[in-house]
Amino acid sequence: MSLDSGFIVVMSKVIELIQAQLSNEAVLLGADVTARATSYWDPSPTQALAIVRPETTEQVSAVLKICHDQDQAVVLAGGLTGVVEGAVAGPDDIVISLERMNQIEVVDELDNTAVVQAGAILQKVQEELDDKGFLFPLDLGARGSCTIGGNIATNAGGVNVLRYGMMRNLVLGLEAVLADGTIVSSMNQMLKNNTGYDLKQLFIGSEGTLGVVTRAVLRLYPLPSSRQTVLFAANSFAAVTTVLQRMNAELAGTLSAYEVMWNNYYKDVTAEGFHRPPLERNHPFYVLAEAEGVDSESDIERFERMLASAMEQGTIVDAVIARSEADRQALWIVREEFEPLLPAYLYDISLPKRHMEVYVEKLTQQLADWRDDSVGYIFGHIADGNLHIFVTPYDEGSHHDTVDKIVYGCLAGLSGSVSAEHGIGKEKLQWLSSSRSQSEIDLMRQLKNMIDPKNILNSGKVIS
Ligand code: LAC
Ligand code: ZN
Repeated sequence: MSLDSGFIVVMSKVIELIQAQLSNEAVLLGADVTARATSYWDPSPTQALAIVRPETTEQVSAVLKICHDQDQAVVLAGGLTGVVEGAVAGPDDIVISLERMNQIEVVDELDNTAVVQAGAILQKVQEELDDKGFLFPLDLGARGSCTIGGNIATNAGGVNVLRYGMMRNLVLGLEAVLADGTIVSSMNQMLKNNTGYDLKQLFIGSEGTLGVVTRAVLRLYPLPSSRQTVLFAANSFAAVTTVLQRMNAELAGTLSAYEVMWNNYYKDVTAEGFHRPPLERNHPFYVLAEAEGVDSESDIERFERMLASAMEQGTIVDAVIARSEADRQALWIVREEFEPLLPAYLYDISLPKRHMEVYVEKLTQQLADWRDDSVGYIFGHIADGNLHIFVTPYDEGSHHDTVDKIVYGCLAGLSGSVSAEHGIGKEKLQWLSSSRSQSEIDLMRQLKNMIDPKNILNSGKVIS
């Protein structure tokens, strides 16, 4: 028997063992695996020995116990919309997908919490809770595909962070399965529970390297009954931050989104054949701001009074207010659907607002020095200090390193981070040390070694 066939026999033993524990339809093989795209961004076929789809936490535990005993590498798949190759598998990996664990189990209407299975799609969770009169405030462009488990694993951010925080702030408790199959139940539902280490936070943002999150207790908010949305234009970055400060101070805590687009982003997503431009395309900055309150009349009046005064002062030079949900969608699509800019190298940095202008100047200069035809599209969640930068021309791997060095190099000395909300995954692994100290990285590595000593969970992601 050749070494090759021996290898296949060993691999199929893992699959046989898993099949013996789960139903056959839980285990996808061959063409059922390759029929699935690698990710939202990469249409090439998924590579994996199998995609395993448990229906219960106990099944997740059984699968992991087998993989652990057999030294089998495991990759976790959520909605596959992440942008840092955090869920990319290789041909020898087993992929675990919780797509069949997708229910809201319980809503506690007194404590404003929901127990949700990790495979539930974010938008479905938002909509079902909306029907019950609750807001689950995490929101991002990938809402229709991303899962609660993926949101937890990546500590997702998105457009409402300035008011409600990232996923870390929205999870009260969770249940996770460790690499050896141990189930850790930490399903706390209280706002206050100060009994020792906050273990849930270890798993939130761990990108599948420390355990498989199977269920979570989410924190809910009352549903807003009034919403104001405006797209406005400004002539300077100082005007953009001035209006943000005013909205924070004057809208009685109702400001929920403040998304900025530099001119090059707005101009190209509203080019002929793409989105309809709600405002002229020649302004230096555009801001999509939204407030959510409960008293329509006074909320609208306060919002419009603030806008009128900013226009008088000249900090806002033009504006369009949404008068219906259709209007609102027409404004948000400009910010959320950036297909016209793709393919591009995608970045997600954060830095203090006081450094942003200098950063953008430096970046623009260095990109121009690199190539005359380069463009750095800039937009993002500026209230969180978070900018997204899409750089073109894109040529798969060939310019990646050069562009990384420019985008991250310009951050040096500005107290920034190479990842504000997208995580590290495999793609940013080599840049971790530019945002984290050696002692932090050493501690992360010790934690990983302790919790997953065989390094079977999402190996090669976040920490090497
Ligand atoms: C967004 C993604 C790129 O904010 O994070 O649209
Ligand atoms: Zn974002």
